[in-house]
Amino acid sequence: MTRHLITSAIPYINGIKHLGNLVGSQLPADLYARYLRARGNEVLFLCATDEHGTPAELAAAKAGKPVEEYCAEMYAVQKEIAEGFGLSFDHFGRSSSEQNKRLTQHFAGALANEGLIEEVDQSQIYSETDGRFLPDRYVEGTCPNCGFEDARGDQCDNCTKQLDPEDLINPRSTVSGATDLEMRETKHLFLKQSKMKDRLNDWIESKTDWPVLTTSIAKKWLHDGDGLQDRGITRDLKWGVPVKRGDDPWPGMEGKVFYVWFDAPIEYIACAQEWVDAGKGDNWERWWRTDKGADDVRYTQFMGKDNVPFHTLSFPATIMGSNEPWKLVDYIKSFNYLNYDGGQFSTSRGRGVFMDQALEILPADYWRWWLLSHAPETSDAEFTWETFQTDVNKDLADVLGNFVSRITKFCRSKFGEAVPNAGEYGPDEHALIADLTERVARYNAQMDAMEVRKSAAELRAIWAAGNEYLQAQAPWTTFKTDPDRAAAQTRLALNLIPLYATLAAPFIPDAAEKMLAGMKIADAGWPDDVPAAVAQLPAGHVFEVPEVLFAKITDEQREEWAERFAGKRDAA
Ligand code: MF3
Ligand code: ZN
Repeated sequence: MTRHLITSAIPYINGIKHLGNLVGSQLPADLYARYLRARGNEVLFLCATDEHGTPAELAAAKAGKPVEEYCAEMYAVQKEIAEGFGLSFDHFGRSSSEQNKRLTQHFAGALANEGLIEEVDQSQIYSETDGRFLPDRYVEGTCPNCGFEDARGDQCDNCTKQLDPEDLINPRSTVSGATDLEMRETKHLFLKQSKMKDRLNDWIESKTDWPVLTTSIAKKWLHDGDGLQDRGITRDLKWGVPVKRGDDPWPGMEGKVFYVWFDAPIEYIACAQEWVDAGKGDNWERWWRTDKGADDVRYTQFMGKDNVPFHTLSFPATIMGSNEPWKLVDYIKSFNYLNYDGGQFSTSRGRGVFMDQALEILPADYWRWWLLSHAPETSDAEFTWETFQTDVNKDLADVLGNFVSRITKFCRSKFGEAVPNAGEYGPDEHALIADLTERVARYNAQMDAMEVRKSAAELRAIWAAGNEYLQAQAPWTTFKTDPDRAAAQTRLALNLIPLYATLAAPFIPDAAEKMLAGMKIADAGWPDDVPAAVAQLPAGHVFEVPEVLFAKITDEQREEWAERFAGKRDAA
């Protein structure tokens, strides 16, 4: 059994994430973690909140709270929602942790010792009234391109043109509205990624099994235009990891912090330390240090496509550049975007369904199933209420739920709540078992390959095979003329329930648990041997008809929700 380290991109602290964010990282990572654990692997699955930087400061200011307090509250909210979705992190950490602060400063020191940090003098917008340098997003003004009066320093929301704050006409501070802005000299640290270009290139070229989405983005950044650029890793902000060179002060960098994108991925490592410090694990180094056993670890990262450059180039540059034996990622699974009902999810306009709202209206399994079975792998995907209603009703209620309730209720009415023992399996039963054996092998292969949609399709087919068997055999009809034969059919069908529960658990853990609880079997074990797996409920085994697994989504609900989520929610 392999040891698997799995991380999901760590969500920003500045608000509750929407379903598009969820399906692009945390949810597929959870699917994979649950699957690998179920197959007996040792798994460390980590995630955290990404708490530093301008977005956190802005969100806290908007909420009228000190940033530390805002982050602590929002962390608790995100943690609870993650639990609500059944995200099975071994630890959900915080990038503002003491562990991450120390490790970030350590990496900066190590990179400096390797000659990979350059101090660069720059001029940047300074606000006399605010007494601080203003990051791009703290400056607004008139767009030089389209005349829009509220363009941000980094981009115009009206015409989408990328801007530099000094391009703006009549610039003002968003902190205070002050217009007494001037350009001032300031010093920043740059990571000399350009010096590592060949090493990064060789590494990316060696990853021939990675999704094209991942490698194509990495290669674009490596080769397009002037190629890989050195990267500013410090900012003039208050909230963040103070710039230090290891444990030592960094002359000239007083009052500055590391750029959020420098410290955020380091949290993947710090999170393992937090996991140990929280008493949940006893050795983080065997997951992260190749000199301490991490050579045996297979490390997989999950993320949306916008995160790919940071994980294929920037973070590896930090790790490689340190010249210390840190574990590098083995596989990067990336996702396209999920759109919402003919447009985009929009956090700022409150358009689409956000994670807290989703759980208010339906149990997690409905969302998990739909989102994963429509994961935007090869292209962007779209959420519509019509497809959501149709697919969920069909797959979960009509196929899986109906199968379970029909056969358990039939058995109860004719044989009682115990597996009947009369009759023998015939050719139809053996054919079904053979078919399922093949399908389970295919399902395993798709799950191993992290082909999320294809895995869902195979699982759906596995459920459908049982339903079709039941439909064709119709034990309720057989019973009238040949009760023994009906008993054999019922015995096999009942035995499919633990099989289905086990296979489905990575997708729909709550329903799977209900199914196992109903069949009174604690852990059916992964069906490495399908014929043995469907013989686990022997004749006489007592069960209870499980509660209804999935209620159907009605047309009224669909209409109400479509209206409710069209875009009014207050942004964070
Ligand atoms: N917070 C980022 C986002 O939501 C992801 C950070 S991932 C990490 O897009 F690598 F920085 F950890
Ligand atoms: Zn514009």
